[in-house]
Amino acid sequence: MAKMLSFGIDPEIKKRKVVRTHGYWIYYDDDTRDIDLWNGSTSFILGYSATKVFQEINRGTELVTRAIANTFEYIDEIDEMSEVICNTGGFESVQWTNCGTTAVEAAIAMSDAYWKGLGEDKPLILSFTPGWHGTSHMTKSLGMPPLATAPSSRHIYGSSIESIETGLADELPRIGCIIIETVPWYKGWIEWHPDEWIKLREICDKHGILMITDDVMCGWGKSHEYHGYAGFGYGFRPDISALAKSLCAGYMPLGAAVCNKKVSDVISKKWQHGHTMQPNIGSICGALATYKHIEEWNLLDKVHWIQPQLSALATNLMEKEIITDYKTSGTVLFMTFRDDIRQSGMSKRDTLRVCAPLIADDEYFETIYNKIIKLCTS
Ligand SMILES: Cc1ncc(COP(=O)(O)O)c(C=O)c1O
Repeated sequence: MAKMLSFGIDPEIKKRKVVRTHGYWIYYDDDTRDIDLWNGSTSFILGYSATKVFQEINRGTELVTRAIANTFEYIDEIDEMSEVICNTGGFESVQWTNCGTTAVEAAIAMSDAYWKGLGEDKPLILSFTPGWHGTSHMTKSLGMPPLATAPSSRHIYGSSIESIETGLADELPRIGCIIIETVPWYKGWIEWHPDEWIKLREICDKHGILMITDDVMCGWGKSHEYHGYAGFGYGFRPDISALAKSLCAGYMPLGAAVCNKKVSDVISKKWQHGHTMQPNIGSICGALATYKHIEEWNLLDKVHWIQPQLSALATNLMEKEIITDYKTSGTVLFMTFRDDIRQSGMSKRDTLRVCAPLIADDEYFETIYNKIIKLCTS
């Protein structure tokens, strides 16, 4: 039998066959059901059964299978969704892509095109490690240089925002962009302080550097805002941003790089970056339906209910001395456990992440609480 390569936590843990998904539940062929605490790496903001989104994915694809929107074709949904993704974040232009990795690649391409358009030599890309910006060589180089096998003299790394001007003084004139994960999550949920956002925006403005946020994970509702920078990032607006994961509720792959008017005015006439899918029609129709669903049910406000539930869950586990530390904001909770919980198959060592879908209810929180207790006592 052909072997599908897998990114397993423990190869001894048996594979389970999924037969159905509904609400936030995953049903298996042994008549059990479970909840994915990390919610498909934070993607499935509407759970698994927002019917209208599926209908729109099907309807859109069947009606118009192709429209090459970066040349001279369009369908209304592409234009509407482009308005949505730009207007919700204060941006001017969008490049649709196929996933988060390619959204980050497109964001860097926007910076390159901007400096090329202005005729300035600013090739350096400043990023922070460890972080996660995607699986291509370039995006690995941004966040995980030990994993990248294609070295580039264009990458430079900052240890903190505070130290950029002093530590990288020689490089500053040649830095074209600084890319930052709105909340770095690889080593825990480590939010930047508002003072760091102020400083970052100041440095970019003072030294003529483009500020890029990687909002691939933090966007589309998790912070109570569509754009992560607007919530988790205290509203310090970047020049360029990358989004993906939840744009189409996780039901179809879709990513986007968006840029402000300053960047758009320079790059729009000579923009040469694109994919075969420009964009995938099903993804775009599903994304528009996702947005309309969030608006219709006022789901962004639901975050104000979800957040205290996550805090209460963590406080309870702290009191029981099951966890020793936690961080939570928006729909996200990161916990450090007293014991090694690797055997559960849900985690590497002693940490566990939760991302609640916007459809979470009392039953959801009761279930995940019981699941965590069981995990620690079995
Ligand atoms: C912050 C961030 N950027 C980029 C990516 C890459 O997205 P994708 O896996 O859709 O290529 C991820 C994926 O986890 C991410 O968390």
